[in-house]
Amino acid sequence: MATDLRDCLGGLSYGNSPALILDSGSGGLTVWGEIVRHLPQLNTFYLADFAAYPYGLKSEQELTDRVILLLQTLVPVIRPGLLVVACNTASTIVLDTIRQQFPFPVVGVVPAVKTAASLSRNRRIGVLATPGTVQRQYLEDLIHQHASDCQVTRVGSNALVGWAEDVSCGQLPDLELLQREIVPVLEAECDQVVLGCTHFPLLKPFLLQISPHIGWVDSGQAIARRVADLLTMAGASTLPGESSVRHVAVSSGTKVNPEWENGVARLGFHQVMSLSI
Ligand code: DGL
Repeated sequence: MATDLRDCLGGLSYGNSPALILDSGSGGLTVWGEIVRHLPQLNTFYLADFAAYPYGLKSEQELTDRVILLLQTLVPVIRPGLLVVACNTASTIVLDTIRQQFPFPVVGVVPAVKTAASLSRNRRIGVLATPGTVQRQYLEDLIHQHASDCQVTRVGSNALVGWAEDVSCGQLPDLELLQREIVPVLEAECDQVVLGCTHFPLLKPFLLQISPHIGWVDSGQAIARRVADLLTMAGASTLPGESSVRHVAVSSGTKVNPEWENGVARLGFHQVMSLSI
């Protein structure tokens, strides 16, 4: 398989030391967008792991094994300068393991509980995340650390992830269903709600239609700033000239949904393809 992969990836042009950004699907594209806005000279290689989607319903062991397998497969070929695990669900469990096994800087995505708590006036905040993330101790620790004086309403939803994927393929979500899914945070009168899954910023325009007074908080910009800091520390040599910048998107699995492929190309990717990983 490694030879096949090398052959396939050999046809791609992703420049030197790209930032490898991965998620179960389109969610990490919201993080990718912030990174590219912040660092227009950075080469990127985006992996949408549709073959293992959704991550939010996987056990900790399954997800850890999957992410490590992806990295063991891709890293020797891509030789990334930095990795962004653009997925809250994976970040809550695999970051330490990755850091022990790979030499490059690793940035994870953490639900923005701290930011939401600092912005909340009524001390009621919500967390929308995957079923996996809401049941993890990692989230409880964040809440304990940063929002111990807040009433925190947690909603773990796989449906929201699916609707966000639909949006990435150009479909509008059903506002009534969306509203029903987030009823707990509406009824609790949360004034700040953490979008604790990277898919959910794709739903933000619709969440704003349902409740324009809530602050819908995500971590995208903070991640982009962290990536910029780490690259600065690593030295400017990791940055190519702007004219040669390359963005490559790969989906795992046997075929790419053409609507997804078109949507991703419109975001500014130079090449989009699928790989059997
Ligand atoms: N986008 C991911 C996250 O931030 C996971 C979505 C899923 O595959 O369940 O948690």
